[in-house]
Amino acid sequence: MFSKRTEWKLQPNRYSEACERFRAEGKIAIDLTASNPTRVGLDYASEIILQSLAALESLQYRPEAKGLLSARRAVAAYYHSLGAEVCTEQILLTTSTSEAYAFLFRLLCDAGDEILVPAPSYPLFQFLADLQDVKLVPYPLLYDHGWQIDLRGLEHQLTARSRAVLIVHPNNPTGSFVTPKEMRVLSWLCARRQMAVIADEVFLDFPLDGPPRRTSAKNAGALTFTLSGLSKIAGLPQMKASWLVTSGPEALATEAMARLDVIADTFLSMNAPVQLALPILLNQRRAFQHQLQVRLRANLKELDRQLAKQTLIERLDVEGGWYVILRVPATRSDEDLAIELLEKKSVLVHPGHFFDFPTDGYLVLSMLPQREEFRKGVEKVLSYFQAGATP
Ligand SMILES: Cc1ncc(COP(=O)(O)O)c(C=O)c1O
Repeated sequence: MFSKRTEWKLQPNRYSEACERFRAEGKIAIDLTASNPTRVGLDYASEIILQSLAALESLQYRPEAKGLLSARRAVAAYYHSLGAEVCTEQILLTTSTSEAYAFLFRLLCDAGDEILVPAPSYPLFQFLADLQDVKLVPYPLLYDHGWQIDLRGLEHQLTARSRAVLIVHPNNPTGSFVTPKEMRVLSWLCARRQMAVIADEVFLDFPLDGPPRRTSAKNAGALTFTLSGLSKIAGLPQMKASWLVTSGPEALATEAMARLDVIADTFLSMNAPVQLALPILLNQRRAFQHQLQVRLRANLKELDRQLAKQTLIERLDVEGGWYVILRVPATRSDEDLAIELLEKKSVLVHPGHFFDFPTDGYLVLSMLPQREEFRKGVEKVLSYFQAGATP
């Protein structure tokens, strides 16, 4: 009856079963997996946001495959603020970054073609690829006083079916940016093999360790698609507004946009009120980012303060984004550890293996929670190890 591509194992894993059990018992955990910015006590300009959705033009239907020009202008202005001049013809709006991925996989891949993705990285890619009959091929990120792309390892993974290299800049959950040098090598490699670069920049505006990094939106060395959206940069995932920007050799970029136009025209999934509101919603990012940057930095500092008092656990370097990784004694699987932390300490953390870490011994913490919540959560995690709870 059903397609093979939807033959997922839908049974809950042991970790989600443990979470379910915990909730069913009416218990409440400190949630260090929080990823929803609208539920962590940040202030939003509610009135301005709601009013922005009430434009009179919303009552008319004027479909535009790439998205309304006024909205694409707002996106171009966003890139201008990052120092990259992008024209509206290079921009295509989508309802989410996930939808942008789906369009790109459709544009670039026939069934069974391959996209290279970083490991560790964000687990949703597997579902996106399954749905588009695309094969994901991991390329390694190596950690040695900071993360870097194993370029040799990546080259080793290329086959005649490789269609694109995906980079996440900065990556979720490693928090590592792609360096300009890595980007040059990747572009060269992609151009030589007629492959594209897909650059996910949803966390670009959240550097933690220094100046803002460069966007890929002007990358010219290879056909490049740069993805971002309101969900992370303005903390408005519920608005369902994202985009992709096409750059690279002109003939290729023009042809890509013409084909993407047809893909987008087939669905016309953007709604008018959000597109009309986009200039105002995008403007909200400044206040949001400021608040969140203050919180992320404070939480990271608090984590370091607590880590300095012990020697068992260390955190990996983090350059940007919303997450931080702890290296912990690998005395049992990450999943077992996360379950024990929930059951014994009432604190929720993500096991590293959710993000495709090559070995056990890693926990991923979100730095979104409110400061007091984060402080208590970290205390609980560290006290679990200090108490010698490991066998
Ligand atoms: C790296 C990365 N890309 C994309 C997304 C999804 O963004 P969107 O809500 O726009 O689909 C996420 C969400 O967590 C993410 O971590």
